[in-house]
Amino acid sequence: MIEILNPEELSRARDTGALVGSILQSLKARATVGVNLLELDEWTKEMIADAGAESCYVDYAPSFGRGPFGHYVCTAVNDAVLHGMPHDYALADGDLLTLDLAVSLRGIAADAAISFIVGETKAPEDLAMIDATERALAAGIAAVRPGARVGDLSRAIGTVLREAGYPINREFGGHGIGSTMHQDPHVANDGRPGRGYILRPGLLLALEPWVMADTDRLVTDDDGWTLRSATGSRTAHTEHTIAVTATGAEVLTLPPSA
Ligand code: MF3
Ligand code: CO
Repeated sequence: MIEILNPEELSRARDTGALVGSILQSLKARATVGVNLLELDEWTKEMIADAGAESCYVDYAPSFGRGPFGHYVCTAVNDAVLHGMPHDYALADGDLLTLDLAVSLRGIAADAAISFIVGETKAPEDLAMIDATERALAAGIAAVRPGARVGDLSRAIGTVLREAGYPINREFGGHGIGSTMHQDPHVANDGRPGRGYILRPGLLLALEPWVMADTDRLVTDDDGWTLRSATGSRTAHTEHTIAVTATGAEVLTLPPSA
């Protein structure tokens, strides 16, 4: 299903997006050395409840996971990249952490992810990988306009990732979003320009470039959810929810400016 939001729904989407951006920013500030992933999950649960919002994750039971996710935020450390299930692990200096969060507020969902390094020891190759996913996301957003096709966005994202030297997995990628978290169209992280669904104002998309340093192959943890690089190499993932406007894109999940 593909949803086109009316102006009133779009105004609710702005509220949800701002909430997701602000929770992620607050989690990032609290994700210091020694903090446990389960604490991050608990804080997320509290912030969602305090805002009167609902988790899109806790009861989520799609075909690509085992049973309901049962947690409030995805926490993916180092070689883990997608659907990282929070578990009893205390963050260490130099860990590359991805936080991915989707919530629904007054019936509209928003979804975003950030990758960053915990503590002081920042490996240049980790910073470069994070930077590549951020630049790929910016390129994807820059390609958004009414009349553009999904393949144009895929190609814009994929070009940045490929030129940065990373293999690209096209199975998991961006998606439509609206009254539910995962909708059509699928936005692969590489593709052919001029192909696919034609964007129109009111469409919400979650764009989410992610990479693994030296492979495009994923393996699943025993928890049935957490996806890691098959080689154990490090990974990065950056995501925003955007709205297609009359002239381009509006990014909905930005953190509140200081
Ligand atoms: N937010 C993820 C995405 O970017 C989906 C996570 S599903 C979960 O599409 F259940 F693992 F949380
Ligand atoms: Co998403």
